[in-house]
Amino acid sequence: MRVMRIVDIITRKRDGHELSTDDIRWFIQRYTDELVTDYQAAALMMAIYLRGMTPRETVDLTLAMARSGDWVDLHHVVPYAVDKHSSGGVGDKTSLVVLPLVAACGVPVAKMSGRGLGFSGGTLDKMESITGWSPSVPISRFREQIEEIGFVLAGQTGNLAPADGKLYALRDVTATVSSIPLIAASIMSKKLAAGADGIVLDVKVGSGAFMKSVDQARQLAQTMVGIGRDAGRDTVALLANMNQPLGYAIGNSLETAEAIRTLQNDPDTPPDFWHHCQEIAAHMILLAKAADTIDQAKQRVIQVRDSGHGLEKFRAMTVAQGGDGALIDDPSRFEPAPIVKTLVATHSGYINQIDTDQIGWTCVRMGGGRAEKSDHIDPSVGLIIRLKVGDYVNQGDPLAVIHARTVETQADAEIALQSAIHIGNEPTTPLPQFYGVVQ
Ligand code: URA
Repeated sequence: MRVMRIVDIITRKRDGHELSTDDIRWFIQRYTDELVTDYQAAALMMAIYLRGMTPRETVDLTLAMARSGDWVDLHHVVPYAVDKHSSGGVGDKTSLVVLPLVAACGVPVAKMSGRGLGFSGGTLDKMESITGWSPSVPISRFREQIEEIGFVLAGQTGNLAPADGKLYALRDVTATVSSIPLIAASIMSKKLAAGADGIVLDVKVGSGAFMKSVDQARQLAQTMVGIGRDAGRDTVALLANMNQPLGYAIGNSLETAEAIRTLQNDPDTPPDFWHHCQEIAAHMILLAKAADTIDQAKQRVIQVRDSGHGLEKFRAMTVAQGGDGALIDDPSRFEPAPIVKTLVATHSGYINQIDTDQIGWTCVRMGGGRAEKSDHIDPSVGLIIRLKVGDYVNQGDPLAVIHARTVETQADAEIALQSAIHIGNEPTTPLPQFYGVVQ
């Protein structure tokens, strides 16, 4: 048998050769077991970043990473496990609305979600703004809750695709994150390991996303859909615009309240967010074969929202996981931030650009996200921005409402928002919400 050496694998990739399935499996296993050093893994990541990977190599990498830890099989709790994944955005509270609506359409939802990363928020952080709610669902309760409610929302097990956890941290500090095969393998390894039969990928494009151009996002979507297909999973990707925040609210309890109001069919909720949720939910329902066409699936989604069944599912899951149901009945009960201040436009004009990542970072600096892994999240802080690209504002009109804990973070947010929201004289066309579907 050939003796494998990491230095040979790095050399092969550095020189532009294709790695074999055995090379990739060997590397992932040894790295997970801490038998390959970080500096050698970093060299290989850089070689992959520069040389790329063939579709076959990318699938091999994904499967090896998916198999590096727990392999969840949900078939004893749900006949068909449907999952969704957002590549990360600002104001993206889609899971909070979509999952209960899908469950209310009769498709059981057993979802493992993550926390915020960089400027983009995370579902668990948003849900934890509901007093008492816990993402830890003991295995014994998991099945009962699916049978009773049809909906569980849990944190990822610590041992889900551990190779991805290690590689992601390494890529973050070695300028090797934005490589399409590496991102695709990272996302899909977690989805495959979590036991999804059907996967809807919400691939964000724009200033508030990882992929800045539609071409890049389409390439990433095609790669992930190809991996899903090769792994025998039904996979579809939607390319969604992230050149402005999704909905109005950014920040944990503000977003959770907005999601609840959307489920309550409150007329003052953002139309772009509801439209986005309908599309994602409909694709999940279609994959699970609970509708024959996408239009029929959307009709079902609208029905369960209007009938209040989606809200009931959300409430039932929240209460089953220890959360305070009174907040779902009346989201105005979320504890407000001590400072709530409206920022106004300094001049009149059209909103022609929103630097969405800067909006996300502003919320992080206010305490709504983590600068370091161990940071505590302040659920009450954040921003409400009702303006969208293409809108006209008069001098003195509200630009944003800042919900801050301290005068310093409020002042920082004011400065950041004045430069992140660009107002010009030229009329600007409103942004499309989606750039297409890849399947
Ligand atoms: N999200 C992930 O899970 N992994 C990446 O590499 C990028 C975004």
